[in-house]
Amino acid sequence: MLPKQAVKRIPLSFVLLISLLLTLAVQKSFAQASEVPTDAETIAAGEKLFTQNCKVCHNVQTKLIGPALAGVYDRRELPWIYAFVKNSTKLIESGDEQAVAVFNENNQIQMTAFDFFSDEEILSIVAYIKDQTDNAPVAEAAPAATAAATPAGQEELPSSYLNAIIIGAAVILVLLLVVLFMIVSTLSKYLRQRDDLSEEDREFVETRNPMAIIRSKAFIGIVVAVVTAVVAKGTIDALYSIGVQQGYAPKQPIAYSHKIHAGDYQIDCNYCHTGVTKSKNANIPSPNICLNCHNSITKGTNTGTVEIDKIFAAVENNKPIEWVRVHNLPDLAYFNHSQHVAVGKIACQTCHGPIEEMEVVRQYANLTMGWCVNCHRDTELNTKGNGYYDRLVELHEQESDQPFTVEDNGGLECAKCHY
Ligand code: HEC
Ligand code: HEC
Ligand code: HEC
Ligand code: HEC
Ligand code: HEC
Ligand code: HEC
Repeated sequence: MLPKQAVKRIPLSFVLLISLLLTLAVQKSFAQASEVPTDAETIAAGEKLFTQNCKVCHNVQTKLIGPALAGVYDRRELPWIYAFVKNSTKLIESGDEQAVAVFNENNQIQMTAFDFFSDEEILSIVAYIKDQTDNAPVAEAAPAATAAATPAGQEELPSSYLNAIIIGAAVILVLLLVVLFMIVSTLSKYLRQRDDLSEEDREFVETRNPMAIIRSKAFIGIVVAVVTAVVAKGTIDALYSIGVQQGYAPKQPIAYSHKIHAGDYQIDCNYCHTGVTKSKNANIPSPNICLNCHNSITKGTNTGTVEIDKIFAAVENNKPIEWVRVHNLPDLAYFNHSQHVAVGKIACQTCHGPIEEMEVVRQYANLTMGWCVNCHRDTELNTKGNGYYDRLVELHEQESDQPFTVEDNGGLECAKCHY
């Protein structure tokens, strides 16, 4: 027979055992998260690697080409992540259940292999992902595209629409005239054939003869005036639009779509237009940049393999893809992208329109001197955090209570834009 105390102790030790097991189990699921470093240095190193290698296809919070990576360290073992990042294809082909599942969930798009990374490097990326998961930035997913879609100082007139209305109205007027003309001539003919008309009425009918109206001086005067006006307007329009290519949207050698890449998949403009923050020219990407993804994405939803194969052909034959240039200022003008994008912080869309919605790029602004100059008159300089401007702003504020615009900084001087 057991002593009374022992009876009491059994349930107690039982409870202890259970709670120990529970703690262990809970600890196990947290064990991995606690293995991920949280020091600022590792996170910064991871951020750099992530930006350079992963950002084109992954966001932490939202799905891009690959899945959102928030919390991967909870749903996958670290060694699995190392293996997957180094060579996902190998893992998928080995039949690993999780790898096959995530591959199928993402339309079987193959991830680039990063076999040159060490485990530590991948761990630092995971550290960055964990940091971003725990401290999710509030407005992270807001696409830059929505920033500014209206061009500064310029409203696009729906001129084709207006023209259609004017032409339509003209056609209706002409038809009306013809009908009226026919009615009048039938009626006069009928009246003239009648014998019972008084002398006065007969005279009236004769003068209302449509042919007489057409021959009248007033009518000829009006016609001449209208024709002159139309011809003059056409000539002036044509003269003003010499060299202006607004709306120009040439067919490109490969049906490359900004809507798919910059819109649907939110690939950063800088990823392809590498010069845009650093130099005068934005640059058009070489086929190698396309291959970063298209080595594994060999089929498109709309065009199958036809268009993407042209990238491979260009690389194999060592021939550049002959993109047709859309925007082109005359040689006499100097325009610098980094000045506007990096220093002025102007969104691409302000000058290029909603590129991320365009299947084929078209020239959005008219690129005339007036367009440049108007924006320089209206736009306030972005002087914040730019020590170079501190003294200038101070001087400007002593003289004027108006905002400090590009114009005030000499942005209308001929030599700034002309060589
Ligand atoms: C070319 C686009 C691309 C690049 C670049 C890329 N990934 Fe991926 N990644 C994917 C796709 C697509 C998947 C989904 C799995 C698949 O389809 O193979 C994926 C899946 C993953 C997964 C598994 C996610 C899960 O939920 O299991 C991890 C982890 C991962 N990527 C990490 C990285 C890291 C780290 C980098 C940078 C070093 C990177 N990826 C670069 C496209 C990419
Ligand atoms: C995946 C690569 C890629 C991305 C991302 C990309 N572009 Fe492009 N872009 C190209 C290619 C290739 C061309 C040349 C073919 C064409 O005009 O469609 C081009 C052409 C252009 C042109 C016309 C150039 C000319 O000939 O005058 C503009 C403007 C432009 N891109 C702006 C943007 C903006 C703004 C973004 C971001 C919202 C962006 N691009 C994102 C690849 C890219
Ligand atoms: C960061 C990854 C990435 C880069 C870089 C990239 N693409 Fe793509 N591209 C994609 C994705 C994702 C798709 C969509 C595949 C699909 O339709 O499922 C795609 C689709 C396409 C298609 C087929 C569209 C269709 O629907 O049929 C063409 C053509 C194409 N890209 C051309 C290019 C060219 C040219 C470049 C280089 C200037 C380029 N891509 C660079 C990711 C990329
Ligand atoms: C202030 C207006 C303005 C802004 C902002 C701007 N561009 Fe441009 N972009 C132009 C003009 C003007 C040209 C024509 C340049 C020329 O012909 O010398 C051009 C030309 C281009 C070209 C053709 C190739 C080249 O380098 O000439 C590309 C690509 C391009 N821009 C991409 C971009 C991207 C991407 C951004 C945003 C990161 C951007 N642009 C922001 C005005 C602008
Ligand atoms: C959307 C408004 C906008 C348009 C359009 C624009 N610019 Fe600018 N530009 C700016 C701003 C803002 C700055 C000042 C950037 C800075 O230095 O902070 C600037 C600066 C400049 C400068 C340097 C001026 C200086 O004082 O050093 C030059 C040169 C220039 N632009 C040329 C052009 C040309 C050429 C065009 C037309 C093809 C053009 N810009 C169209 C906004 C614009
Ligand atoms: C903010 C930039 C900017 C400034 C400042 C500027 N221009 Fe221009 N100018 C341009 C651009 C861009 C063009 C080309 C426009 C076009 O092709 O329609 C141009 C075209 C011209 C042309 C026409 C050339 C031709 O072939 O049609 C003349 C002339 C000219 N500029 C003179 C001047 C003079 C004089 C000044 C000083 C009072 C001046 N510009 C200041 C940007 C500028």
